Amino acid sequence: MRPTVYIGLMSGTSLDGVDAVACTFEPQTQCLGHTYVAFDDALRQSLQSLLTAGFDEIERSGRVAIELVHVYARAVADLLKKTQISANDVVAIGVHGQTIRHCPNDGFTVQLNNPALLAELTGIDVIADFRSRDMAAGGEGAPLVPAFHAALFGNETENRTIVNIGGIANITLLPSDTSKPTLGFDCGPGNTLLDIWMQAHQGARFDENGAWAQTGSINDALLTSFLSDEYFERPAPKSSGREYFNMDWIRCELFTYPKINPADVQRTLVRLTAQTIVDATYKAQPDTRAFFICGGGVFNPVLMADLRELAAPATVESTAQLGVDPMQVEAMAFAWLAYRFVNKKAGNLPAVTNAKGPRILGALYPAY
Ligand SMILES: Nc1ncnc2c1ncn2[C@@H]1O[C@H](COP(=O)(O)OP(=O)(O)O)[C@@H](O)[C@H]1O
Ligand SMILES: [Mg+2]
Repeated sequence: MRPTVYIGLMSGTSLDGVDAVACTFEPQTQCLGHTYVAFDDALRQSLQSLLTAGFDEIERSGRVAIELVHVYARAVADLLKKTQISANDVVAIGVHGQTIRHCPNDGFTVQLNNPALLAELTGIDVIADFRSRDMAAGGEGAPLVPAFHAALFGNETENRTIVNIGGIANITLLPSDTSKPTLGFDCGPGNTLLDIWMQAHQGARFDENGAWAQTGSINDALLTSFLSDEYFERPAPKSSGREYFNMDWIRCELFTYPKINPADVQRTLVRLTAQTIVDATYKAQPDTRAFFICGGGVFNPVLMADLRELAAPATVESTAQLGVDPMQVEAMAFAWLAYRFVNKKAGNLPAVTNAKGPRILGALYPAY
């Protein structure tokens, strides 16, 4: 039998670990299994240190990419074991890599990866480097998930917004009139500022269930100041990363408000994430009826409560309500992009990324 399975590997800006899924796309999209491998602290720190300029970056990048790919290979092995799928049944792995620079204005983006090694370790064809082809055509190279969101969640009953709350938050606007183009963009920070502030003040990697944020109060003046950042006003297409939304960004804003206690800052950052998602949605698609959330932000009840309050009367639910586990959506998108590559179909949406046209995204590293 002809192989039909595609594997997607996604490790995002949160630097938490890698999500892996096995999918088929014909006759319809189906996820056959999921696994997650967390990065250990040493790998996370090595990756983190490459997010900004530093000594001997080229050599460190080469070494860390090898380490990273060993974790990817472990995720693939684990996934195959769990799902009882043989490597021979897998057409290809679509692997995003780990973004260490995203500079659309300068025309480049860098995802740390070693797809040749991944092909060698798994014995499966690997498709990698999805973003640069879109950028070469003048696009932002991001977000790339909207095309998949449209394929999976597009519908004719209601105007929907799919929100992926990873490190950065991106939205996909799906009009019920499916003849209209799908729009989407990075609307701002997702969890990244929450994680950074938590790490600096509480020593934990993230604020589990928003417990710490819950102890604070929203500071309206600080929120207004956060919201005045020009990124939020800038028209789409736009994409962002930790080059922009980072500790310096928070500190710059806090300069004027040195007396606000850290828990209140955390609570205000949660509100900022929710507010920018809802504002960006209603500006781009005023008659949105339903928000569906995926990515790790869905597990933060404080954030979800803020989203519900601000989005009302529209509903806010997890993509689980649509039958898709919220932690699998992004990895599924990269399996889908591999499927598009193999079938010589475009993976980008020019209306989203501003590329000159549809392009086949990715490059193939054959297993043999
Ligand atoms: N139980 C939880 N409570 C609060 N936040 C959570 C929880 N689980 C995950 N998160 C958040 O989700 C992030 C990971 O989300 P993810 O979608 O994997 O992002 P990325 O795509 O950037 O890797 C974590 O860093 C954390 O901020
Ligand atoms: Mg992640």
